[in-house]
Amino acid sequence: MWKKYTEETYLDKRLENYAASNYYPFHMPGHKRRLDFLGNPYEIDITEIDGFDNLHEPKDILKLAMDRVSRLYRVNKSFYLINGSTCGILAAVSSSVKRGGKILMARNCHKAVYHAAYLRELKISYLYPPVISEGILGSITPESVERAIKEEPDIEAVLISSPTYDGVVSDIKSIAKIVHQHRILLIVDEAHGAHFGFHPYFPKSSASLGADIVIQSMHKTLPSLTQTALLHICSDRVKKEKVKRFLSVYETSSPSYVLMSGMERCIRLIEREGKVLFDRYAERLSDFYVRSQELKNIKVCMPSQKDGRECFCLDPSKIRIDAKKCGINGRQLYDRFLEQYHLQMEMCSDSYVLAMTSVMDSQEGFDRLFDALYEMDGQEERENLFFSDFYSVRYLYGKTKKCAELFDAWERERRSVKLSDACGLIAADFVNLYPPGIPVLVPGEEISAEITEKLTECIRMGLNVVGIDGKMRIKVVN
Ligand SMILES: Cc1ncc(COP(=O)(O)O)c(C=O)c1O
Repeated sequence: MWKKYTEETYLDKRLENYAASNYYPFHMPGHKRRLDFLGNPYEIDITEIDGFDNLHEPKDILKLAMDRVSRLYRVNKSFYLINGSTCGILAAVSSSVKRGGKILMARNCHKAVYHAAYLRELKISYLYPPVISEGILGSITPESVERAIKEEPDIEAVLISSPTYDGVVSDIKSIAKIVHQHRILLIVDEAHGAHFGFHPYFPKSSASLGADIVIQSMHKTLPSLTQTALLHICSDRVKKEKVKRFLSVYETSSPSYVLMSGMERCIRLIEREGKVLFDRYAERLSDFYVRSQELKNIKVCMPSQKDGRECFCLDPSKIRIDAKKCGINGRQLYDRFLEQYHLQMEMCSDSYVLAMTSVMDSQEGFDRLFDALYEMDGQEERENLFFSDFYSVRYLYGKTKKCAELFDAWERERRSVKLSDACGLIAADFVNLYPPGIPVLVPGEEISAEITEKLTECIRMGLNVVGIDGKMRIKVVN
């Protein structure tokens, strides 16, 4: 039976109503629904007609726009990406490692990196970030990179995510030095760091620290429309023409002029008003962190800029809130923010909630967040037994054993088995915790008893686990 359509089911109506509501966005995109400089999108939605250049062969107005980006980020060359950082990551990996070659990548990379490795049939070696005190994954250390490259001299490129979805930054300068001593390339997925380098309150961009290719999602942390991203070539080691070729493979042949126009407006805004906007933003954020120290039970993680080797540095734009002491787990806290305070958070983990901020956040937004925290903090302290024997699901990422290469395992014959019966079998598909889309299990990895147990717990908690169906079955290699 077809479902009956009513106005309630129309996306445009729902968006219109949402836009008129008082829900405040502590999530991406970074424009926070507060810009209106594009006017009626239909009026400027064109294709590659005369006078408007061609993104895949830019010679005129789009070339000028991208040169402007290179100047702002002080890099050799920048490309607009209209399919998000995803297509930039696919192109960066494809152009840096030959088909069937080997890549060294952080195990906590976004799925786009895995997809690149799959498409190019790459052999994968992993760097495992440590789990730091708050149960989040820490930085990739330069020592671990050096060790891996020495052990496996056939590695052709190194790829790490810095900052991570949680805002953890790695020591890119030291890592780049090591990588270059071995004459290979360093690719940094800086999808969450397009705002880096514009103000001393925030970390420097990998683009200025020695990385060869840097990919940034403008839409995540800058005032730019969803899907807009950048690929920067930062050194002469990179084969520019190869990157261009792969971008033409992975990127749409009909790039939206609405999106590109929005990107240019964003870049111009930063050029013109960046200092004022970032000064104000840094002040609001640091004021928020200072005020949060007053809270007794709820913990707002302080972004002290240098936490030691395991966490080289934290991006203060990401606010991590932990209410364990109030007896509230991540999911419950997230729901309370939404239902009681109309504050939409970016994500919840098992134990904490993540709020994403940007230059577009208002003082009112920060006040609403603080007031909600203050009120919840004052509520009666309860013991939540749930936490006594549960540790962060992030520990899962370092606990898997690779038994087959991704490109091989993902293509093999498969069957579904109950998660509880999967112990010792080999995963045939990805299992992801969303967000952030970092695979807990990669095809070709062994499913351990611990993994089955923790995944069951995550599902019970209401976390979004993709790759386990409604009947608690998982796909395994035949
Ligand atoms: C670390 C990381 N890299 C890459 C991506 C992909 O970025 P995009 O959505 O712009 O394609 C994401 C998306 O969430 C991400 O979190």
